Order: sequence, then C-alpha cells, then structure tokens
Amino acid sequence: MKKVAWPGVMLGALAFACGGAAAPSVAPSAAAPSAAPAPERPGLQVLHWWTSPSERKAADLLASTLAGEGITWQDAAIPGGAGLGAGKVLKGRVLAGDAPEVTQLIGPSIAEWADLGLLLELDNVADAGDWRGFLFPTIGQLVVHRRHVVAAPLGIHRVNTLYYNRPLFARLGLAPPVTWRQFEEAARRLRAAGVAPLAQSSEAWHVAALFENLVLAASGPAFYRELFVQRSPAAAADRRTHEALLRLRTIKGWLGNELDERPWPEEVRRFARGQAGMMIMGDWAKAELATHRALPDRDFGCAAAPDTAGYHLYSVDTLAMFAGDYRQMADQERMARLLVTPGVQAGFNALKGGVPVRRDADPAAMDSCARQSWTVFAKGAAVQAPSLVHRMALDEASRDAIIAEVHRFFLDERVTPGQAQRRLGALFRLFNLKPLGVAGAQDTDRGR
Ligand code: BGC
Repeated sequence: MKKVAWPGVMLGALAFACGGAAAPSVAPSAAAPSAAPAPERPGLQVLHWWTSPSERKAADLLASTLAGEGITWQDAAIPGGAGLGAGKVLKGRVLAGDAPEVTQLIGPSIAEWADLGLLLELDNVADAGDWRGFLFPTIGQLVVHRRHVVAAPLGIHRVNTLYYNRPLFARLGLAPPVTWRQFEEAARRLRAAGVAPLAQSSEAWHVAALFENLVLAASGPAFYRELFVQRSPAAAADRRTHEALLRLRTIKGWLGNELDERPWPEEVRRFARGQAGMMIMGDWAKAELATHRALPDRDFGCAAAPDTAGYHLYSVDTLAMFAGDYRQMADQERMARLLVTPGVQAGFNALKGGVPVRRDADPAAMDSCARQSWTVFAKGAAVQAPSLVHRMALDEASRDAIIAEVHRFFLDERVTPGQAQRRLGALFRLFNLKPLGVAGAQDTDRGR
C-alpha cells in the first residue's frame, strides 16, 4: 500500500482542507507515515461516490477501459448523494497516511488538496492531449492550480434539469412548466389527479439543490455568484434571496405528507413509476431512469428547471491522482490520458447522464437532454452557475454550513425567510473574515 508523504509544514494547511476541525486534534506523529515498508496494492485504487445502479455502470465502463490497458481499477465506492460521505472518508484516509491513488474530487476542493502539494501534476498528459485546445474554458480553469493541471475532467452534469412524465402530462393536457407560475398550475392539476407533483427528498443536499435552482431562477448567474461564490451579506439580505426562500416554502407545501429523507435513487424510482409527475435533479437522474427502462422523449421529457432555461447550473466530475511516492505515476498518467479521450468521454457520459467536457464533442450524437445541456454550457461563463451543493462554488466547510442553514429553514416552519437571511448573512461575514498575521487575530471583513 502506497503512503502519502506528509511534510510537517502541511499540517496547518490540512486544517484548512479539513474545514479547520479535524486537523488540530491530530498530533503530527499520528499523521506521519509509518517507517515500515508498505505492502504493494495492485492496480489503482479509486475512491468515488458512484454507487447507484447507473453510476455503477458508468464506473464499470471506466474500469473495463483501464483493464484493456492492463491497469486494474480497485474500487473504493463510498455511498451518499453528492459525495457527502466520500469527502469525509477521503480526509480520514489521507490523515491516516492511506491515500487512494485516484479520487473523485470536484470543484474548489481540487485546489485545497493541490495546495497541500499532494496531487500529481498532469501537465505532460494535458499537453500531449492538447487539453487546452479541447476543453471548455470553465473546465480548463477548474483542473488547473497554480498553472499546473491537477485533475482529469470526466463530464458535466446539469443540475437545473426538470423531468416530467410525458404520458401523464399528455393525458392531463399539461405543458412542461417554463416558469414557476406555470409550475404551480401544473402542481395543482397533478394533485387534483391524485399524483404527487414533485419527487423530492428532504435530505439536506437535495433540499439545498432545489434552493440553488430557485436562487438561479430568481436572479440569474451574476447574483447567484454574489450569494454562493462571493458569500456577500448584501446578497443574503436581498429580496431575491427572500423570494427564493419563500418559493422553497411554497414547494414544501406541495410535497405534503410525501416528504421523507429518501436517497436520490429512490426519488428517481418514484418518478419512474409515475408516483410523482415531476422531478428536479441533476441529469445523472436521466441515467438512473434508464435502469428503470424509462427513456427520454418517450416516457419523460427533460427541460430546464422553471425560469432557468438559458442557464446552466453545473457539477463537473473530475478525478485527481495522489502523488504519493510516484510508484504508480505511469499508470495514473495513462488513466488520466484515457479519461479525456473522445471515445471514453462519449461512452462514459452516455451511461452517466452528463455531457463531455470537450468542445469538439458531437451534439448530434447526444439525446435531447444532453444536447440541451451541452449547447447551453457551450455559451460560456455568463450563463453558467457553479452548483453550491455539488462543491463547485465553495470550500467544503462553507458549503456544509449553508446547506445546513437552508435545510433548517425548510424543516422548521417557525424560521421566517428574514431570519434565515440574517443567519446566512452572519455566516457569510464569518466566512469572509480575512486573517492577517496570526490566524483569527484580525476580524477584517472583506467588505463583500
Ligand atoms: C456528482 C455526480 C453524482 C451525483 C449524485 C454529483 O455531485 O457530480 O456524478 O452522480 O452527485 O451522487
């Protein structure tokens, strides 16, 4: 088993990657690698959170592609939608000196780990494959840290996807809702027909995913970034945030007694069985629907979530490699090279529900949902919004705190939108404190 080198100076930085909680309690000796020679681990161990049947199929495709190149994929799958468990397991393993060779790492957490000097630089692979020439600019920026490529991008998911049951909508003479007003009307008609309007879990991340859709709908990508990327207290106090919170409450009203902490594949199953008429979820749900033999344009339609048609709320899947002692570097580089090739991109994303990260992908070869997603994403940063829930916008600690606040507002109806806004504003002020000199010595608000 390969061990990750742990220079003592990294411990401070690790506190940052661990949300500042776990590292201080760990003595340096506990984090240091043992001196004993580590037993060899065959192949590349890959830590990820693709555990539903469709996600499994997509991961298996990667494993068999690697096997074709003589590289064994050792699976380390950690269940939990949006990778909530996987992030914690990864930190624990790295602290114990047992980093996997490859890990699903997405959004700013790539930079956090790269800052610690733990990720393998993939510049040679990226140059040889002309990633700079082929990747969408947003994707290129995501995998580059201090001018080095440190992750291989796999696919783009659209989080603002609305699914609707086509036969049911046809029977009731309903059109897919383009606005939240139309959504209300569709919900009323579905309810009157005895069908739950929306497949929605009360799991924290799924509630917050609905909320980020509502923020985007109420405000567009520029304001969305003020709120979730810059964490502006003024944006938290803004009427658009108020509007999104109110809408979240209204939608809760439509869920009635169907509300439960179901895992996302269970929500997909409810939608596939016609137990709910609509669902708002990233397009990984489209791939999961296929495992229930539900097909786009026949059994269900895909549209943008109400009032977000021109926007792309994205989650980008990337795999990063831990550098360790470089013994597996050749296989890690070969893997990274393969992941970005047109064939693997097309095959993986067809099974996973997302779209390729390459600008030279062929939209004509995609289904209608994927085509919409790819075409909107291709319009560039002005229409793109990084998903908070799926780690695209913020570090893990900030993300977790915001998700918890939104969840609390959703569950506890005594909390007013104004109170939730004030609490978010207070959190943002805290996040934006800029330490000068000794950490915590200066409470300097960045003014945003
Ligand atoms: C990932 C997807 C995954 C989904 C559900 C997202 O964060 O980008 O690959 O399917 O979570 O767990």
